[in-house]
Amino acid sequence: MVAPPGLNAAATAFLFLLTITVVRSDKLKTFKGSYGVTRSFDDNIDYYYRILKLDKNATIHNNAIQLTPDSSGSGDIVPKQNQSGRAFLPQKFKLWNGDSNTTRLASFNSSFLINIFRPTNDTPGEGLAFFIAPNLNLPLNSYGQYLGLTNASTDSEASNKIVAVELDTAKQDFDPDDNHVGLNINSVRSVKTTSLSRFGIELVPKGTRLYNVWVNYDGVKKVLEVYIANSSIDGPTPAMPGEPVLKQDLNLALYVEQESYFGFSASTGSDIQLNCVRKWNLTVTSYVKDEVPVLAIALGVGIPVVVLLVVGAGFMVVYLRKKRRKRGNISSNILGALRSLPGTPREFKFRDLKKATNNFDDKFKLGQGGYGVVYRGVLPDEENLEVAVKWFSRESLKGEDDFLAELTIINRLRHKHLVRLLGWCYKNEKLLLLYEYMPNGSLDMHLFAEPGKQPLSWALRYKIVSGVASALHYLHNEYDVRVVHRDVKASNIMLDSNFNARLGDFGLARALDNEKTSYMEAEGVLGTVGYIAPECFHTGRATQRSDVYAFGAVLIEVVCGQRPGTKIGGFQFLVDWVWFLHRDGRILDAVDERLAGDYVAEEAERLLLLGLACSHPIAHERPKTQTIVQILLGNMPVPHVPPFKPAFIWPAMGPIEDDDLSLATTLDTTSMTTSNLGSAWSTQNMGKDSHEQSLV
Ligand SMILES: *[C@@H]1O[C@H](CO)[C@@H](O)[C@H](O)[C@H]1NC(C)=O
Ligand SMILES: *[C@@H]1O[C@H](CO)[C@@H](O)[C@H](O)[C@H]1NC(C)=O
Ligand SMILES: *[C@@H]1O[C@H](CO)[C@@H](O)[C@H](O)[C@H]1NC(C)=O
Ligand SMILES: *[C@@H]1O[C@H](CO)[C@@H](O)[C@H](O)[C@H]1NC(C)=O
Ligand SMILES: *[C@@H]1O[C@H](CO)[C@@H](O)[C@H](O)[C@H]1NC(C)=O
Ligand SMILES: *[C@@H]1O[C@H](CO)[C@@H](O)[C@H](O)[C@H]1NC(C)=O
Ligand SMILES: *[C@@H]1O[C@H](CO)[C@@H](O)[C@H](O)[C@H]1NC(C)=O
Repeated sequence: MVAPPGLNAAATAFLFLLTITVVRSDKLKTFKGSYGVTRSFDDNIDYYYRILKLDKNATIHNNAIQLTPDSSGSGDIVPKQNQSGRAFLPQKFKLWNGDSNTTRLASFNSSFLINIFRPTNDTPGEGLAFFIAPNLNLPLNSYGQYLGLTNASTDSEASNKIVAVELDTAKQDFDPDDNHVGLNINSVRSVKTTSLSRFGIELVPKGTRLYNVWVNYDGVKKVLEVYIANSSIDGPTPAMPGEPVLKQDLNLALYVEQESYFGFSASTGSDIQLNCVRKWNLTVTSYVKDEVPVLAIALGVGIPVVVLLVVGAGFMVVYLRKKRRKRGNISSNILGALRSLPGTPREFKFRDLKKATNNFDDKFKLGQGGYGVVYRGVLPDEENLEVAVKWFSRESLKGEDDFLAELTIINRLRHKHLVRLLGWCYKNEKLLLLYEYMPNGSLDMHLFAEPGKQPLSWALRYKIVSGVASALHYLHNEYDVRVVHRDVKASNIMLDSNFNARLGDFGLARALDNEKTSYMEAEGVLGTVGYIAPECFHTGRATQRSDVYAFGAVLIEVVCGQRPGTKIGGFQFLVDWVWFLHRDGRILDAVDERLAGDYVAEEAERLLLLGLACSHPIAHERPKTQTIVQILLGNMPVPHVPPFKPAFIWPAMGPIEDDDLSLATTLDTTSMTTSNLGSAWSTQNMGKDSHEQSLV
């Protein structure tokens, strides 16, 4: 799509470098640890003393971590009353990163088998907790109600940086009872508690009872859940119950240190109990900085500078060439073409448009771009018809050829999912076009609305992408000449009053802005690059296949609520992250969290898989629009998507299609250049008889 070959190569090289440097800097890493699971505590005491850090009177004994002293064999010199202890994995985990606005949180699952036991049949006390802490130090005097977490002077201090799930067996005046689970943040006064008796759970019954506890934290949804199930000493781990005993929204980044430890703590008071952890599984998935090899740094810093210079030089060449091409009598050409437009568009008086837009009042402005400005207008003589008035800048009219091509094409297209041209006005070299007004703006405005606004519902999202698919199908196959849109992206998808999608261009299209011929300038590299098929960097040509690629990016964007160029999960592009989740068998983790689970899972999976299929790096592997429409209707299954994203191969070794052939011979690079930047509308005749076809 970009003109000079040097420019293509440079842009490709630049993107490639970007990929290596960025992907290397931030990636998802999963830690898995098991303690007492395959290696028993009893047979590996030395090992566990080495790999776990036990604080104060905590021991490994009786095939368990004893967080507080048990009846340690014959010696039994350590009193059991007023004790506290901790056991840690002495390894810091990165629990969040980014600054406070762009935080990404780690997720973790901790599941453990506990046995809280009354050695005498007296009242038990006090409790056991799984917790996250900034250091390995047990506070002094953290026995009794403090559970080894805090003490009388530090309790409630934000500087504790402790988040814990307590299993509390002694009632304090702030506790609901002596058998509850609670979420503790910097304090033993829980922010949330659940009494366990109604779940049939008695933490410390008379006799021996074991429980399996799951503390699961989802850092994407920012939710912590605790589950508890009856278990037994040597039996298998029970299935996790369907319902959590405690569930709480929790942004860990607000409370714990960026790098923290995981562990257990427990205490006794005047009343005692044994606090035993018999098995522990811990899985932590966090974002970590990868080591950046020296070579990558050198490339990342050195070559892009050179590449930018090359790209800049490319622009100059294009610019100068365009300048030379500029022709004399623009006015008469345009006016002639406008007057001969077939069909409905009418000529409007400048005076009327001035009135309609309140003298082109800034308050009526809908959008602005290289092409000029778009205003909302109300035509009093047309029953207050609302229109979008696009006033082309003088500069933009210099690309007369492209402009006329756009105009003639859009004027002839008729489809309920395309924005319609209503009329035009040309006076004193001022050109204005009138389009149907789209009261709901563009799709991106809704997908990325500020927090607090109602997110676009699932049903509307599905309806919108279905509309876009049918518009593309029309352009590619049903209209009398085949049209390649070339700039399918969320900001070009307009929404009418019923949220029907209308593929259009105003607002961001830069059709006529042919002095600026780069992706980079359009919306920043990433914003636009995410929609561009990889082969375009080599061919500089848009095809129906590259439209499908862009549509795939829109599909994924709509489901995830993230822009295609979003760096996420350590990946440079959204699509790569979704592909990774697909491989991991959890593609639905990609669904926009603003939907808060309110979506149809089957449809979401369908859109995501279809999005991946459309994002196939090899153009001829992408589905065609007729298939896409059928899949969206649910009439056809989604194509198989391989677990790993196939490599981009150039030149592609696929079957040569008619489309490709005709394109290769009929497209001229210059027109591609201007269009990318891009006209929403431009055509190429794609039939075999393309040379005979006239566009007007
Ligand atoms: C256990 O706790 C007692 C009382 O708090 C203390 O005197 C003793 O030193 C502790 N033992 C160990 C091994 O830390
Ligand atoms: C335990 O601590 C409480 C107060 O903190 C005290 O009254 C009690 O005597 C202590 N018990 C023992 C055995 O040290
Ligand atoms: C974070 O957001 C706040 C409020 O939205 C803003 O004032 C602040 O500058 C942002 N900080 C960073 C590092 O972007
Ligand atoms: C935790 O478990 C849940 C459900 O069992 C799973 O969906 C999630 O991926 C797990 N998270 C981690 C970090 O392993
Ligand atoms: C720990 O993980 C292993 C293997 O993944 C599993 O068999 C075992 O049941 C788990 N144990 C607990 C207590 O969750
Ligand atoms: C609480 O713990 C801190 C840190 O261990 C200690 O400095 C402080 O003296 C303790 N406070 C009480 C009341 O024991
Ligand atoms: C756990 O086991 C005990 C005793 O077998 C039973 O009374 C209780 O209902 C069980 N609890 C659950 C949640 O299954």
